[in-house]
Amino acid sequence: MNKKVEQAINTQLNFEIESAFVYMAMKNYLETLSLDGFVNWFDIQFQEEMAHAQKFMNYLNDRGGRVEILGFPNPRNEFASVLEVLETSLAHEKEVTRRIHALVKTATEENDYPTVAMLQWYVNEQVEEENNFTRLIEKVKLVKDAGLYMLDKELATRVFVPITAA
Ligand SMILES: [Fe+2]
Repeated sequence: MNKKVEQAINTQLNFEIESAFVYMAMKNYLETLSLDGFVNWFDIQFQEEMAHAQKFMNYLNDRGGRVEILGFPNPRNEFASVLEVLETSLAHEKEVTRRIHALVKTATEENDYPTVAMLQWYVNEQVEEENNFTRLIEKVKLVKDAGLYMLDKELATRVFVPITAA
């Protein structure tokens, strides 16, 4: 497959793994606040990011590309509040969106249409990711302390849904 696109997908799949560990660190900070529902929600966020990486790996392997696993900087482990965790998450997802869009641009410029088609799933997923965090931030701002307890119960019900073959 096109080497430039192969390289760009490798960079992105490694950033998905990095994202997974960003959320795992947040999950463990939330453990210190005894917010079990938020812990559950961020554990699923971790699993989703690993699934995003796996989907890219499967794609590269299907196209005869070569997956390269790289290292990444330490994730942030300390935060001041739930709200800071969520605002950091939203900023992170905006960066992921920016990178996915740049990847679409590269694949388009290289006339790699299968990759452009595959990336559409990620474009849609990023709309959902940004929306999830935006709404959660608004809810946390609304509910204050007593409501946070109720919201925590709601987040405890999130379940991981594996990516289905689209
Ligand atoms: Fe992702």
